[in-house]
Amino acid sequence: MKKWITLVVAVALPTTLSLASETSAETLALYKKKCASCHGTDGKGDTKMGKKLEAKDYTDPKVQESLKDDKAFAVIREGLKTDGKTKMKPDAELTDAQIKDLIAHMKQFGKK
Ligand code: HEC
Repeated sequence: MKKWITLVVAVALPTTLSLASETSAETLALYKKKCASCHGTDGKGDTKMGKKLEAKDYTDPKVQESLKDDKAFAVIREGLKTDGKTKMKPDAELTDAQIKDLIAHMKQFGKK
């Protein structure tokens, strides 16, 4: 029993500590799987798909400034269309918490 408790603490502690400033491994994996094909692992959007769909450079402070939580949330939840063209599809699999974590991750791109 005692061993078990130690294990839980050892696993939970680093995760809790990293939440404030860094993206959790889970969110990072999610981002890489679902978002990086267009937005790039570094947020610059200079992937083949990103260029084609005109993804913005999220390391640019001006782009970061335009990144607002509620709008970003709506785009990730509902998708994005400009001039009738689908830029981003909605993802029904994502939970609200995951979306919030993903937005927080995208905000990190401006801080490096
Ligand atoms: C098929 C390509 C594609 C994928 C995949 C994709 N996006 Fe996008 N996304 C775009 C494009 C294009 C835009 C519009 C230009 C921009 O803001 O970069 C955009 C815009 C956004 C915006 C800005 C919304 C705003 O107007 O403030 C956010 C936030 C965002 N995406 C997050 C994500 C997240 C999180 C994922 C993964 C769950 C994701 N995107 C997956 C292409 C994509």
